[in-house]
Formats: sequence, C-alpha cells, structure tokens
Amino acid sequence: MFATALLLLSTLPLAIVSADTLSAILPLQATRYGTDLVANISIGDSTYQVLADTGSADLWVLGSNWTCHDSSTDAILPRAECQFGNKTYTPSPTFSALSSVWLGERYGDGNAIGPMGFERVQLGEIVIPQQQIGVVNYSSTIGDRVNTGVMGLAFSSIALAHPEGYAPNTSLGLLGETVPYDTVFVSMVQQGVLPYFSFALERLPLGQEKGFGGYLTFGTLPPVAHGDFATTPVEITQAMPASLTNGTRKITEWALSVQAVSWDGKSYDTPFQAVVDTGNWANYFPRGVAAQINAGFSPPGKLVSPTSRFDSSQLFYSVPCSATPPANVSIQTGGKVFAIDARDMIWRDWTGECFSSVAPATPIGDIELPFLGDAFLKNMVAVFDVGKEEMRFAARVDENSSDGSGTVVPASGGSALGRGCCSTVTVMLGVAVVVAASVLFSS
Ligand SMILES: *[C@@H]1O[C@H](CO)[C@@H](O)[C@H](O)[C@H]1NC(C)=O
Ligand SMILES: *[C@@H]1O[C@H](CO)[C@@H](O)[C@H](O)[C@H]1NC(C)=O
Ligand SMILES: *[C@@H]1O[C@H](CO)[C@@H](O)[C@H](O)[C@H]1NC(C)=O
Ligand SMILES: *[C@@H]1O[C@H](CO)[C@@H](O)[C@H](O)[C@H]1NC(C)=O
Ligand SMILES: *[C@@H]1O[C@H](CO)[C@@H](O)[C@H](O)[C@H]1NC(C)=O
Ligand SMILES: *[C@@H]1O[C@H](CO)[C@@H](O)[C@H](O)[C@H]1NC(C)=O
Ligand SMILES: *[C@@H]1O[C@H](CO)[C@@H](O)[C@H](O)[C@H]1NC(C)=O
Ligand SMILES: *[C@@H]1O[C@H](CO)[C@@H](O)[C@H](O)[C@H]1NC(C)=O
Repeated sequence: MFATALLLLSTLPLAIVSADTLSAILPLQATRYGTDLVANISIGDSTYQVLADTGSADLWVLGSNWTCHDSSTDAILPRAECQFGNKTYTPSPTFSALSSVWLGERYGDGNAIGPMGFERVQLGEIVIPQQQIGVVNYSSTIGDRVNTGVMGLAFSSIALAHPEGYAPNTSLGLLGETVPYDTVFVSMVQQGVLPYFSFALERLPLGQEKGFGGYLTFGTLPPVAHGDFATTPVEITQAMPASLTNGTRKITEWALSVQAVSWDGKSYDTPFQAVVDTGNWANYFPRGVAAQINAGFSPPGKLVSPTSRFDSSQLFYSVPCSATPPANVSIQTGGKVFAIDARDMIWRDWTGECFSSVAPATPIGDIELPFLGDAFLKNMVAVFDVGKEEMRFAARVDENSSDGSGTVVPASGGSALGRGCCSTVTVMLGVAVVVAASVLFSS
C-alpha cells in the first residue's frame, strides 16, 4: 500500500527493495542414487552442473586441464577414477585471472585445488558480473558422474582462498591461511537478493540413479506446500577447535541444536549440535544413539567401512535392502518434531548393497561432529537465513490437504532486519581474516 510505503520510506529507507528484489528458483537433479544434488548455473558463456553444498563455502568448476589424483598417494589417476562429469571450463572473455590467491579445498574424501579468478556467474535471473571462482586443476575428491564443480553455501568464514606463496605441505594445511572474499551467496545478496536461500528435496525411488531432486531457491521459497516453520538459531560449531579459526570462535557452518531423537517409542534426550549439510546424504548421530537406532532395524544393522564407495574413514551400518527400519524415527529441533520418512532410512548404492541412513558421527582426531543430511532434509522445506543467522524448517504437506496447513507461509528475510543484515555481513567480511576448518567434515 502507498501509505505503508511512505511510512517505510520515512523510517526504514533500507527496506524499500521488496518491489524489485531478485530471486531464483533452480530445479535440482538428484544424482548418484539420490546422494548428491546438482544445479545448472551459468559460468562465463556456458552452463555447468554444480553440486549444491551447504557444508562448504567456495564455488569452483573443473578447468579443462584438470588432473585426477589418488587421495592418499597423490599419484595421477585416469580422470574416470574421480567420477566427475565431462564438461570442463575454459576461460571465457569475461574471465579475469587472480594471481594473488588460489583455491585449496579440503573435503571429507579429498581435495580440490586450482587458480582463482573473477567470472560472470548467473543463477536463474540473478547475474553476478564478477564472482570470485576457483578453476580446479587438481582433484582427489570424487564426483557423481554428472557435476563438474561445487557451489558452496556455508558461511564466508570458511571460504578457502589462500594467499599466493602459501604452500601447505599437508592436505590439512589447506585449512590454513585464508584470504576472505565474497562468496557466491554474499554476492547475490549484494545484487539485491533477500539474504536467505532454501531447499526442498525430493526423494528418488530406491535404486534409481538419477531424477528430479527438488528445488534450491535464492531469496524466495520453493513452490511446494508445507506447514508452519520452526525456527532455530545458527550456532558456532562447538566441535571446531578454536585453533582452526585462528583463536576466534565464529559461525562457520549451518550448525544447530538437536533437542532429541526418537524412534520406536524410545528417545535420546541429550541435546547435541549437528551441522545441516546437503553434501551428506546420511544423518550422522552421536555414536551411542546411532548404534541404538541401528539395532532397531529388523534385522539389525552391522557397522562396516565400505571402502570402495566412501571415504574409508567413514563408517555406515549395512542392512539388507528388505530390512524394516525402526518405526517413527524423528528429530526434534527448534521446538518441533520432524519425522523421518521410512523411505529415507535405507539407501541402496550402485552395487546393490543397502545402508542405513543413520550413521555414527565419524571422529576426526578428538572431534566427533554430527550432521543432518539429505535423509533429514527430504522431509521438509528448509530455509537458511544468512541475514537473521537462523534456520527455519517446515514439514512438507499434501498440497490437497484440507486442514489449511498446506498454504505457503512467507519466510522472513524481506524485512528491514533481513536487509540490514547484509551490510553487517559485508562489514564482517571486511574485518575478518579467518582460518577455515569445517569443510574437513563435509563430503
Ligand atoms: C542441467 O542441464 C543438463 C544439460 O542440459 C540437463 O541434462 C539437466 O537435466 C539439467 N539439470 C537440471 C536440474 O535442470
Ligand atoms: C592447458 O594446457 C595447455 C597445454 O599445456 C596450455 O597451453 C593451456 O594454457 C592450459 N590451459 C589452462 C586453462 O590452464
Ligand atoms: C565422458 O566421456 C567419455 C568418453 O567420451 C564417455 O565414455 C563417458 O561416458 C562420459 N562420461 C560422462 C559422465 O558423461
Ligand atoms: C594448476 O594451475 C596452477 C596455476 O596456473 C599451476 O601453478 C599448477 O601447476 C597447476 N596444477 C596442475 C596439477 O596442473
Ligand atoms: C611441513 O610443515 C611443517 C610446519 O610448517 C614443518 O614443521 C615440517 O618440517 C614441514 N615438512 C616438510 C617435509 O617440509
Ligand atoms: C508410530 O506412530 C504411530 C502414529 O502416531 C502410532 O500409531 C504407532 O503406535 C507408533 N509406533 C511405535 C512403535 O511407536
Ligand atoms: C492435488 O489435486 C490436484 C487436482 O485434483 C491433482 O492434480 C494433484 O495431483 C493433487 N496433488 C497431490 C499431491 O495429491
Ligand atoms: C590470527 O590471530 C593473530 C592474533 O590474534 C593475529 O595477529 C593474526 O593477524 C590473525 N591471522 C589471521 C590470518 O587472521
């Protein structure tokens, strides 16, 4: 309304953006049997399929000269071993190389390293004329036979651009010395996108390799019906040693508190912190509760280290594909209980073997960090609000349900608060020089 607009104009000039805010709704492809989520984005003069990963913060694409490496010996392997798609990036006329920094990304299963530069990036209608991207020419991390890059959506404090001349002599050193920059989502916000993004994931039938994976949206909500939102603040990831963030504790990952986990009439009420990570298909719970839930499968799950398929340090519970999962598995966060659909409790991989989607948090040194992965997110609309530093979750509902809960509830972020946040983000980036850590735990 006109009067309202005038009132806003007189009091909150920063809020007058709602009429022409930019947003984008990107469909996702679920790949690798529903474990990975891939979006098409335009980089330079072509389109690339990139993994949408809330667990890391950088945007990169494989350069045309990339080499595949063994993650333990460093030996060069045939490219096929790294299991990426075939579309590689050749610098376009809008690319400008940066000689002052390079990308050195440390994932759970390996590394991605290469030069960086500025390039035009477009996501739906959102255009970023000059986005800092990595052009990876060394990979020991593994793809999904479709994507040729990653779009990280974690906080800028864990972006892993390193200064020229910095030469870590171990891959863990890739978590060292960083040069802050505006990650792709921060750049989108600077273009006028409201400071939140959202995922609504679809599940594939057991054993189907690829298919529609749902939506990733920027500055707007996905077009799916859902109930009311529960809100929970983003927390500083406690398991992250302060030494890995240069002695300063700050928000790095999408970490929250899980208040309780319930299954089969039992419950685990000791709160724990977990990182919400679209780059992990499984939910990683504290080891004790993971063991109890997996004992509730019929027949019970067996703890294994499936070396051919996963990073061998990661443990999973193997179950027969016909196993019955424990009844009524749910996760309580933000004061609401979210049911995990029984179909999200078992995953069948390409060899035909099945695994429980409840895995034990993998200790790395002394750190045991739980995750909520795609098996949690497939049951809801999840909003990641950078501006308010909070996450909001709403259960999916049948769009034809008559109880009225299916109407789309507008998310916040369009408010003055949301808008004001972004200058805060920018200011924060300007002063922060952070040593990154948590991509270590992301896969
Ligand atoms: C991305 O583009 C490729 C190639 O055109 C297409 O096969 C794929 O379905 C697209 N993915 C999505 C999620 O739209
Ligand atoms: C790729 O390698 C070729 C041959 O060594 C070289 O001429 C070219 O500049 C390289 N391209 C990139 C993008 O590094
Ligand atoms: C990549 O190209 C090779 C050789 O043309 C082909 O055999 C392979 O199937 C392709 N891989 C993908 C993921 O498209
Ligand atoms: C990757 O590119 C950088 C910068 O151009 C170069 O120094 C490095 O040798 C390349 N690495 C590989 C494995 O090609
Ligand atoms: C690697 O770096 C560490 C720390 O800077 C140093 O102590 C060590 O000697 C180096 N090792 C090699 C083989 O250069
Ligand atoms: C699971 O939940 C349903 C619906 O609330 C209930 O009827 C059933 O008894 C529960 N089963 C167990 C084993 O708790
Ligand atoms: C909802 O109803 C419409 C119209 O009857 C139908 O086309 C659609 O498939 C229904 N959606 C679901 C999820 O049942
Ligand atoms: C790390 O902290 C030290 C001491 O507070 C400070 O002097 C240094 O500049 C910081 N380094 C980075 C990379 O932030």
